[in-house]
Amino acid sequence: MQFYETYPETFIVAEINGFVVGYVAGFMAKEGVGRVFSLAVHPSYHNRGVGGNLLKEIIEIFRSMGVTEVVLEVRSGNIKARRFYERHGFHKIGILEKYYNDAENACLMELEIK
Ligand SMILES: CC(C)(COP(=O)(O)OP(=O)(O)OC[C@H]1O[C@@H](n2cnc3c(N)ncnc32)[C@H](O)[C@@H]1OP(=O)(O)O)[C@@H](O)C(=O)NCCC(=O)NCCS
Repeated sequence: MQFYETYPETFIVAEINGFVVGYVAGFMAKEGVGRVFSLAVHPSYHNRGVGGNLLKEIIEIFRSMGVTEVVLEVRSGNIKARRFYERHGFHKIGILEKYYNDAENACLMELEIK
């Protein structure tokens, strides 16, 4: 709720039959740079295009805000999510060592948009 209240224009939920089954939260990190902070879909609704639609939607909102570069961090071991982002045009631009509380590295990914 705090994230939604701070950045309402880049917080989107996906609903099926009136139930929230996924969300994406982002914000403008700096001029021209949008950051996807968190994206998740309820496990019962995976692999139906919900996550892809949420990602496409936030990219379009960022585009309308003048963003030309979208960045995000994902756990290095989260192969499914990394492949998902690559399918949407993101590529790896770096590693953030021990980024997470449990000391796992983050993979920093970027998408350039026009
Ligand atoms: C990563 C995540 C958000 C993807 O959500 P999703 O709703 O399953 O995503 P999609 O359905 O759009 O795409 C997933 C796969 O389903 C396939 N797919 C998409 N639409 C489909 C459809 N209509 N029918 C069958 N398969 C489909 C895609 O090919 C895609 O394959 P890929 O992973 O190899 O790219 C989800 O797995 C998740 O919530 N994971 C846990 C949280 C997480 O890891 N978040 C990301 C890190 S911040």
